[in-house]
Amino acid sequence: MFTIIKKRELNPSVILMEINAPFIAQKALAGQFIIFRVNEKGERVPLTIADYDRNAGTITIIFQIAGKSTALLATLNEGDYILDVAGPLGLPTHVDENAKRVCVVGGGVGCAIAYPQAKQLFNNGICTDVIAGFRNKDMVILENEFKSACNELILCTDDGSYGKKGFVTNALRELIENGRHYDEVIAIGPVPMMKFICDVTKEFNIKTIVSLNPIMIDGTGMCGGCRVTVGGQTKYACVDGPDFDGHLVDFNELMSRNSTYREAEHECRLRSGL
Ligand SMILES: Cc1cc2nc3c(=O)[nH]c(=O)nc-3n(C[C@H](O)[C@H](O)[C@H](O)COP(=O)(O)OP(=O)(O)OC[C@H]3O[C@@H](n4cnc5c(N)ncnc54)[C@H](O)[C@@H]3O)c2cc1C
Ligand code: FES
Repeated sequence: MFTIIKKRELNPSVILMEINAPFIAQKALAGQFIIFRVNEKGERVPLTIADYDRNAGTITIIFQIAGKSTALLATLNEGDYILDVAGPLGLPTHVDENAKRVCVVGGGVGCAIAYPQAKQLFNNGICTDVIAGFRNKDMVILENEFKSACNELILCTDDGSYGKKGFVTNALRELIENGRHYDEVIAIGPVPMMKFICDVTKEFNIKTIVSLNPIMIDGTGMCGGCRVTVGGQTKYACVDGPDFDGHLVDFNELMSRNSTYREAEHECRLRSGL
């Protein structure tokens, strides 16, 4: 069992939890994830390791209340236990050692996944810019954390209530058109956002890594649930990813597969009363 050491609400629908998980904390690297089950009847849910502390033996997760399981997790408090947490899973983010300047683009709760990647790049001495986009001011998360993990932070809101008005795609295009050179772009967020960022970077021929979020079940490459098409080949995001070359990903297939259970998920949440 895994004790919740700390719980903090980052915005009305996003929660940070620090969990006692010494074996996972020992091995975790940026880009990897865990799969948890709240209780014996709980479904298996993947969440990125947003941070870890090897000395304290803790990992940090940041999650959006999206449906039944994340709503159930959000009911737990400091001192409560999560039944199982498996990890670290997936391949760590590959850092191109020759990259001089990288732009990390995060959208919404995708910023929770973007943060450890930005931090790792920055700590490795790579000049790192972050573009973080949110619907409005109330949804902004991790602003201070990003400030200490990058050279320049551009915060965007769709409605202009905080930071720069508009989408992250426009902010990235503006930077590039004004002469900023990037060796690599890393985009993490809703699938349509990653697709549109890839459309921009393709135009400028900038290598782009995306972190994919297909439906996962076992997380060990056995069930096939997380299969995605990358460069015409079938890949399992849980063991071959979750990071892939965004210019090769079939985003339309990913969006279609991710919506397979939408009605059932909605009904499940309603029936749970959470
Ligand atoms: C590698 C990976 C890392 C992720 N990291 C984070 C993170 O750090 N923070 C965060 O908020 N979310 C993250 N997600 C998404 C998170 O797993 C889903 O929000 C969660 O599974 C929703 O479950 P639910 O029961 O609350 O909602 P549901 O109502 O069951 O589902 C809501 C939506 O979540 C997605 N989803 C549902 N079940 C799964 C599943 N088993 N695997 C993957 N996606 C599913 C579907 O797109 C679905 O439409 C990650 C997903 C993956 C694959
Ligand atoms: S989650 Fe089963 S193969 Fe990836």
